[in-house]
Amino acid sequence: MTRLSVNINKIATLRNARGGNMPDVLKVASDIEEFGSEGITVHPRPDERHIRYQDVLDLKKIVKNEFNIEGYPSTKFIQLVCEVKPHQVTLVPDPPNAITSNAGWDTITNRVFLSEVIKRFKDAGIRTSVFIDADSIMIENAVETGADRVELYTESYAEEYSVDKEKAIAPFIKAATTANAVGLGLNAGHDLNLENLRYFVENIPGLLEVSIGHALICDALYYGLENVVRMYLRETKCL
Ligand code: PXP
Repeated sequence: MTRLSVNINKIATLRNARGGNMPDVLKVASDIEEFGSEGITVHPRPDERHIRYQDVLDLKKIVKNEFNIEGYPSTKFIQLVCEVKPHQVTLVPDPPNAITSNAGWDTITNRVFLSEVIKRFKDAGIRTSVFIDADSIMIENAVETGADRVELYTESYAEEYSVDKEKAIAPFIKAATTANAVGLGLNAGHDLNLENLRYFVENIPGLLEVSIGHALICDALYYGLENVVRMYLRETKCL
């Protein structure tokens, strides 16, 4: 069954807007778990404009379910992740100043780099996932990097969903089938929301985890955080 990991970067963005500790990122993470989330995701960026490196260290002490750290594997990021030892690290190729992740890895061009980085994480006992477009060639080559999982970048699915959902999902079904065939675990994320999530989960074979941030936190403005976590869980479990 697919698991929900809530990305809490937006909570840190809100806190950072005023310079104090409101909202309290640690309390929100605990509450989100209390409301049923099966994981917490953070994406520390070099400028620390949302989640700070210290937040990651502090979160490690209180997150009870799966802790997933995503980011570009810079030297500082690798050191942080190896110190924190989360359950999972998700590698994304975005440059330091990117607003958000905007592409998957080219696993052919970056095979050597990814293999070296992934080995360091695996030696530290951390499960590894690489962020990837719905492209079977990139998925087949991800096997060579030693990654345990791939996270499908779902922005194009979300974009196309309202126009033609069958067309939107087709490349993702193909990509998922490839990942299953080559023995890679399968995660997905980016721009998933209450409208498009269920159809994605229903149609993607072997989907282990979705990681959702922006839409979930926006929905919380209307429905409240507790309701929203439960609403996203219902979609994730297709209840
Ligand atoms: N997966 C990755 C690799 C991301 O960078 C992000 C955004 O930080 C997400 C998933 C979640 O995307 P969204 O905030 O659109 O739900």
